[in-house]
Amino acid sequence: MPDILICENIHGAAVEVLSLQFEVSFLPDLWKDSVELSKRIGDYRALIVRNQTQVTAALLAAGSKLVVVGRAGVGLDNVDVAAATRAGILITFTPDQNAVSVAELAMGLMLSLARMIPAANQDTKNGNWNRQMFVGMELYGKTIGIVGAGKIGYLTARRAQAFGMKVLAYDPFISRDSILLSELNAELVSLDELLARADIVSCHLPATPGTVGMFNAERFEKMKPTATFVNTSRGEVVVESDLLGALESGQIAGAAMDVRSKEPPQAGGLERLPNLILTPHVGAFTQEAQDRVTRAICEDVARVLDGKPAQNAVNKLSN
Ligand code: MLT
Repeated sequence: MPDILICENIHGAAVEVLSLQFEVSFLPDLWKDSVELSKRIGDYRALIVRNQTQVTAALLAAGSKLVVVGRAGVGLDNVDVAAATRAGILITFTPDQNAVSVAELAMGLMLSLARMIPAANQDTKNGNWNRQMFVGMELYGKTIGIVGAGKIGYLTARRAQAFGMKVLAYDPFISRDSILLSELNAELVSLDELLARADIVSCHLPATPGTVGMFNAERFEKMKPTATFVNTSRGEVVVESDLLGALESGQIAGAAMDVRSKEPPQAGGLERLPNLILTPHVGAFTQEAQDRVTRAICEDVARVLDGKPAQNAVNKLSN
């Protein structure tokens, strides 16, 4: 009898180890066909997903033998945790394992915007030597506004501080004695103040009813015309048409987006903007982060199937 279904591209040594103990079906494209996934899920005790499978109440209901769903990543916007709890299915995830990689990408995007690295690369490869076209900006001495001061926000702030940046943070869920503020000498401010003062706004928010659409025209208007905006968190927090407007009108100077409101995105105008850098949701895509994430999720799923408590359970089940 099969035990575990992996319906996205999650592989590596940890999956091989898991396969020694359990019968694992590796169907990396199955997430694309929700009907077929629903048909098959009833055979399995565990499901392992990344962020593309929609783990809906209906899918969980079809998983009549499901005991655990492992989310290889940190965002839970694709998993109906409440429905899982009602169905007695444990959700486990990897809260910290890719945080360094995402923070490093955020820094890379900030540097890319400040020094126009993608445009300079393309122009030079086109045979030009236009040094005067690429007079950039230092990060040193600038102010970064961290929106969402969880683990990734914290790690980004630490790296920004190493560049000599002043750190502002907005997060309604952290207190003034949090480690971010004390260790990094960061200033906790309102969102309006952060937007008004930051030279770079770096977004580290989950997609929740309170954050979806947060970066709209009104918010971009509050930023300095010289400021840039970086989003390595969730695409849904940005109203993309409003970002397009803010970049076209010069309301803000530039932006970098690793995530989109719909992934993969439809062409909608953003891709033709010279002051916007786009990457395909690769914040967590380093070998190191993928190894850590895969190991953690495989170990946790194995633990639950063995009747042991999970290390990183998201929900609490009443027995
Ligand atoms: C995450 O939520 O961990 C990242 O966005 C990466 C992913 O979903 O694969």
